[in-house]
Amino acid sequence: MNSNAHTDVTRLLHVAASPMGERSQSRAIAETLVAAYRHTRPGATTDVLDLWRDRLPDFGAAAVEAKRAEASGGRAEGEGAGAWEAVRRTFEHFDSYDRYVFSVPMWNFGIPYVLKHFIDVVSQAGMLFSFDRDSGYTGLLKGKKAVVIYTSSIYKPGLPPAFGDDHQMPAFDGWLRWAGVTDISTIQLRSHQITEDADLLRRNAHARAQELGKKF
Ligand SMILES: Cc1cc2nc3c(=O)[nH]c(=O)nc-3n(C[C@H](O)[C@H](O)[C@H](O)COP(=O)(O)O)c2cc1C
Repeated sequence: MNSNAHTDVTRLLHVAASPMGERSQSRAIAETLVAAYRHTRPGATTDVLDLWRDRLPDFGAAAVEAKRAEASGGRAEGEGAGAWEAVRRTFEHFDSYDRYVFSVPMWNFGIPYVLKHFIDVVSQAGMLFSFDRDSGYTGLLKGKKAVVIYTSSIYKPGLPPAFGDDHQMPAFDGWLRWAGVTDISTIQLRSHQITEDADLLRRNAHARAQELGKKF
């Protein structure tokens, strides 16, 4: 065991939203972070939820009916019961971790649709959030920490509007905060296709991932 090792056992989940596997830049940065994390926490569990390989349940009519039945104090029945069971299983698996790493490429200024699918499955009242008419929403994910890796090949803050807009980081960070996750760090690799410094940007992103991984 190395001398900086933490002794408390934690569970880390890397939620990977790029389909590019070994060629994914966001995934590579996440893997650097997870390797550093494992080095300082040899007992920790680290898993990957690959949103392109690990099939999520559909969230269609049966699930919406079930959501409505549950919201009005009833019980989902028939097809809805199966749909709700799948939703609950997906949420409980996600909630069983206390550290999250999300690798999130920008797609058309926003997040890849598989990540929105994941959000729509797990964001349920009584699981991820509660709602009160007077006080509004309360996030129910407690004691969690997240690192989000955002990549985009053209967009970066400060460029003219013709280079795009950011519906990625505000939307995803906002979802995490809504869910109750307030300890959020970000790593951004941006504009790598239109700069001479792509290698330097990449090296900096990996260096930051290593630092965050050690302390995570
Ligand atoms: C379908 C698609 C849409 C994209 N849309 C944008 C975009 O709106 N703005 C941008 O800067 N880059 C965009 N990109 C580029 C990716 O964000 C960029 O290549 C990123 O590094 C990909 O991360 P990954 O290597 O982890 O998959 C897009 C890429 C794809 C495949």
